[in-house]
Amino acid sequence: MKIGVLCSGGDAPGMNAALRAVVLTAAEGGAQVEGILFGFDGLIDNQTAPLLPEAVAGLARHGGAFIGSARSPRFLEKDSRQQAAEHCRQKGLEALVVIGGDGSYRGAAVFEEETGIPCVGLPGTIDNDLEGTEYTIGFQTAVQTALEAVDKVMDTAESHGRVFVVEVMGRDAGHIAANTAAAAGAHAVLIPEVPHQVPALLEFFKRYQGAMRRRPIIIIYSEGESEVGREDLVRNLRTSFPQLDVRSLVLGHLQRGGPPVAADRILAARLGREAVLALSRGFSGMGLGIRQGQLVHTPLAQCKKRQLPPEAYLLELSSLGLQEWKF
Ligand code: F6P
Repeated sequence: MKIGVLCSGGDAPGMNAALRAVVLTAAEGGAQVEGILFGFDGLIDNQTAPLLPEAVAGLARHGGAFIGSARSPRFLEKDSRQQAAEHCRQKGLEALVVIGGDGSYRGAAVFEEETGIPCVGLPGTIDNDLEGTEYTIGFQTAVQTALEAVDKVMDTAESHGRVFVVEVMGRDAGHIAANTAAAAGAHAVLIPEVPHQVPALLEFFKRYQGAMRRRPIIIIYSEGESEVGREDLVRNLRTSFPQLDVRSLVLGHLQRGGPPVAADRILAARLGREAVLALSRGFSGMGLGIRQGQLVHTPLAQCKKRQLPPEAYLLELSSLGLQEWKF
């Protein structure tokens, strides 16, 4: 058997660990793996490279996606998908493992339906916003990275008694924000899933502004927050509370890099291995994931963007820090 593997969408720490597990599990069963470079674009442009076991040695500890990852608007066109299928046939690829988020899964589902080439999806996105798994590959590392950054900002916020509004990634989902805020002991979190948070926050500032002066205040702001733009929030705080020193920081893509934490490496390896085993048993059209510790297969078409908000306890913990000024 010859399997193609690709990474698609934004890279996520753990993608390399998944690639390693795919290649080594295939080798164990006598199968070959072809790496498709830069996502579905590599399939359209026929840019691939054989992945031998020695090429993936030691790869699990590295962030990024060593075969490249990309979003592919071209793959939305049927002609491009036909071209990609033709290249699969030329290279003898009998199945595909697609590592990515909901858009990548949609591409894989359509491709399998149109061409009959079996596809299996692995959830690779830092946003943790995919149906079919409780955790996506890369999420835990992104939270850890954001937490370490916030811890450092907290040091300088404490020294100067400043307010920091820290923007974290997550596109439309507040999971990175809620988990980072809860772990960091932040004073507030603003996420897209919870409306009408800003008036209460401003009211709290108004009431306790005297006590807050020269104290560190950390507000975690999720990039998908729509109630108020980050810059508008900062402007509003500066205007309404001129005695507070308000600063703003966007963590950005550093949250996507760095060595994956243990949980991401293990998740990626477990799912990467399962992808090859599932294909060899004749399963396809599935997104793989973990639920309550168990491996689960969910039809790709059902693995949409997850709308589930972060759990309530995380939000309670995320604003617990506000109590610091009540006494
Ligand atoms: O989906 C992962 C993600 O990092 C989101 O959190 C973010 O909104 C987006 O990708 C950024 O994408 P790009 O790197 O293409 O700008």
